[in-house]
Amino acid sequence: MNRPSLAGMRVLLGVSGGIAAYKACELVRRLRDAGADVRVVLTENAARFVTPLTFQALSGQPVRSGLWDDSAEASMGHLELAHWAQHVLIAPASADLIARLAHGLADDLLATLCLASTAPLSIAPAMNVRMWAHAATQANVATLRQRGATFLGPADGPMAENESGPGRLLEPHQIVAELAALQGPRPLAGKRVLVSAGPTFEDIDPVRFIGNRSSGRMGFAVAEAAAQAGAEVTLVAGPVSLATPAGVARVDVRSARQMREAVLAQAPRHDVFVSAAAVGDFRPEAVAPQKLKKSGGGGLELALVQNPDILAEVAALPQRPFVVGFAAETENVEDYARAKLERKKLDLIAANRVGADCGFERDDNALLLLWPGGREELAQADKRALARALVARIAERSAQARA
Ligand code: PMT
Repeated sequence: MNRPSLAGMRVLLGVSGGIAAYKACELVRRLRDAGADVRVVLTENAARFVTPLTFQALSGQPVRSGLWDDSAEASMGHLELAHWAQHVLIAPASADLIARLAHGLADDLLATLCLASTAPLSIAPAMNVRMWAHAATQANVATLRQRGATFLGPADGPMAENESGPGRLLEPHQIVAELAALQGPRPLAGKRVLVSAGPTFEDIDPVRFIGNRSSGRMGFAVAEAAAQAGAEVTLVAGPVSLATPAGVARVDVRSARQMREAVLAQAPRHDVFVSAAAVGDFRPEAVAPQKLKKSGGGGLELALVQNPDILAEVAALPQRPFVVGFAAETENVEDYARAKLERKKLDLIAANRVGADCGFERDDNALLLLWPGGREELAQADKRALARALVARIAERSAQARA
């Protein structure tokens, strides 16, 4: 994958307080490696975790943290600094800073700069999993998104407090790659992209269902990358607990039949359909109206019927979009995926190996892209980076198909 470039970009990096502040040091180095000119502003709490001197040495520029610093104001006043920035990046962004930004407060230098700057704002949150999930934080995130801020992460994984879940700061190289992708070409500008993501749940009775291990991360990353590439994106999401990517319209569904209905209603007005959802192949023939009871020590026989193949149906539409399938395989990945490409009459298929330790429920993946007469391997990488590469190929191949 190409090295990200931010050549000549003037980035104002705001660092707020939290244990992840130490990662901002590496971030400064990575931003400069990518060619950015970086000025750092610390909140008072951030300066308790990492000293301004460290950031000064890494950025090669004076570091500011207070509004009332006469000598700093004399060399470059805070309004001048806000004007200087071509991009404002906050990493890590604490729950407190996100709340202050959402409410338009100007109670310290960083919040004042964000209010005074007209540059695009990217926010990489880092906080405890429960603070991230809290309704107040999510409402503040939604407010900032609505105003055009882009959220980079958070990542999912183990935390300092022996907890695990979404709330970790993205790794510095991922933040730089995402920032570069935001500035990159927009090969899908003017196009409409429909993406399905996540699992489907097929109810057995009012409390049980048949599901699968899809977390939705791959499909959400594709939706995000397509939006970053300039497309108008509709995301049909199975039952997952992921935040909607910036600028993406979302339709939530539960079962395969609901997903089919939502996808078929949307497909005709879209230029591209990417089917990343792990659609349940079977559903119980009938849903029991009451909770099934254990009878004696006996087992339970469940009659299953096949679900419709949504992808094949979209590919068979008279005015079909450019159709991209996924293939989740545990063995013979290439052979099985190519058979699906041909049988379902797809334009492109992204095959991945799935199992207990790959494909599902994790931040990384590897893809094998197949199309009639061609193939390309996308090596193991973060799903967001893979999604960007996949979207770039989709843009190329769909443009060729239209030509
Ligand atoms: O969600 P994550 O945890 O990030 O995991 C990502 C993923 C492994 C789920 C994803 O990368 C992936 O492989 N998605 C497709 C899963 C799947 O259902 O594969 P399949 O080989 O069974 O189906 C082939 C294609 O037909 C897929 O595009 C699928 O969306 C589609 N399909 C399948 C069955 C069905 N009834 N209708 C369909 O449209």
